[in-house]
Amino acid sequence: MWATRLGLILAMAGNAIGLGNFLRFPVKAAQNGGGAFMIPYFTALLLLGIPLMWVEWGIGRHSGRYGFGSAVGGLGKLCRSSRLSLFANYLGVLGIVIPLAFAIYYTYIESWTLAYSFFSITSRYAGPPTLEGMSGFLAGYQGREFNDQFSGLGTAAVFFILTISLNLYVLSRGISKGIEKLAKIAMPLLFLFAFILLIRVLTLGTPNPDIPENNVSNGFAFLWNPDYSHIKNASTWLAAAGQIFFTLSIGTGSILTYASYLKRRDDIVLTGLTTSMTNEFAEVILGGSISIPVSVAFFGLLQTTQIANGGAFNLGFVAMPVIFYKLPFGSVFGMLWFSLLFFAGITSSVALCSPAMAFLQDHLKFSRQKATLFIGSILLFGGFAVLLFLKHGFLDEMDFWAGTFGLVLFALVEVIFFIWIFGINSAWTEMHEGADLQIPKIFKWILKYVSPLYLVGLIIFWGYQDGIPILLMKQRNPADIPYLWGARLLILGLLILFLIFTYKSLNRKKTISNININIREREQI
Ligand code: TRP
Repeated sequence: MWATRLGLILAMAGNAIGLGNFLRFPVKAAQNGGGAFMIPYFTALLLLGIPLMWVEWGIGRHSGRYGFGSAVGGLGKLCRSSRLSLFANYLGVLGIVIPLAFAIYYTYIESWTLAYSFFSITSRYAGPPTLEGMSGFLAGYQGREFNDQFSGLGTAAVFFILTISLNLYVLSRGISKGIEKLAKIAMPLLFLFAFILLIRVLTLGTPNPDIPENNVSNGFAFLWNPDYSHIKNASTWLAAAGQIFFTLSIGTGSILTYASYLKRRDDIVLTGLTTSMTNEFAEVILGGSISIPVSVAFFGLLQTTQIANGGAFNLGFVAMPVIFYKLPFGSVFGMLWFSLLFFAGITSSVALCSPAMAFLQDHLKFSRQKATLFIGSILLFGGFAVLLFLKHGFLDEMDFWAGTFGLVLFALVEVIFFIWIFGINSAWTEMHEGADLQIPKIFKWILKYVSPLYLVGLIIFWGYQDGIPILLMKQRNPADIPYLWGARLLILGLLILFLIFTYKSLNRKKTISNININIREREQI
């Protein structure tokens, strides 16, 4: 159980606030019409994000009451018929494998931020302070091409193992002593570092007087001036909904696990809303005010657009170090930036592992230590595949199936079971148990019709637009294809493994209850 309400809020905020807020959001907003992106973004927040947040909290607290901390068990308890309940429990495996597959590559990216904090403070990359130089540095670190900076993946491996060990340490200490304590330390530091960086950005003005148009205000204008032509594209709406899913951590099953450690009458309406709003503050205000404005001030609009189009990592790991190098006390600011990312990352990666932790303890009766070791081996084994095969698109392939498609799929499963099978009225009562606030009635209708239809629409559009080309591996380099299959087999392997575990544990329970029935019958005789 969570020890304090503040600890719970910080842990939930830590779950949601992650690399997505600081790396993914600014790039998505810049690519999709800037200020105009905020229209589909806030629409998705209202119609999908917040309602689904309540749904996951609701299912989670309900599961916890029966001693289940994951969707296996949790979804089953929403069904009245035992057949459906059995089916639901198998479907619940998605709520363990999706976050676990996600954790495999998320911890690897998180390890880059730890490495870069060290590089910043030790000025390891002080040599090449240009965009080309830092781009080569990142490519060398990731093993995409070796150069004078890196001749192998050794450094990346060391920081990866260190990151996994830190995660396992937190997981092995459990909920209140591990995850809650981590959040109580990491979250205030994260906000502090973000505020320091924000103030630094706002007081930057025009760094190069020879090019007066390269300044911070133009940076904000670049990010926020709306370009309404984007609103007409379906892809903008998909990107916005995808970002909402990603940033709020909904549809993975990990909010569900965190909520299962609530007490029966702990409020979920207000606390769920507070978590969402804290995340939005960290994303839109803090995430949106650091990297893009500062990049425009230093590199100008054109180059910032190119950097942003190069992807989320270019902005964070290539452009930012170059900028810090040019600032006085740059190594300190650099360290603040990368430690902020690391804190954001670790409070999310422990959350991604927690459904599997809960499952192993609830259903297989693993001790916490044994569960931690088991998950550690999966992270290590899968993570090394990501590390070694990054240049073949292994990480991107996993990110599509687990981090994009998987979330929407599992979110739909959750809505169907909570709102349609458990029933909207029971769900409504469940969500309001112990609540300080009453959710406006209109959300009943949104939950019942709008959110599921939105989700189905997303699955269809995504499946059509990205899913089919990705599935068929269109326009892929033939040399990469075996690795892409490798990524799929890894996810599939995890699914099969946890399905077998579920099968075994459900059968064991059946035998136990049969024995109980026999004993009772005998007593009657
Ligand atoms: N919200 C996290 C971020 O912004 C990513 C994420 C998605 C996540 N689903 C999750 C983290 C589930 C933890 C648990 O980076």
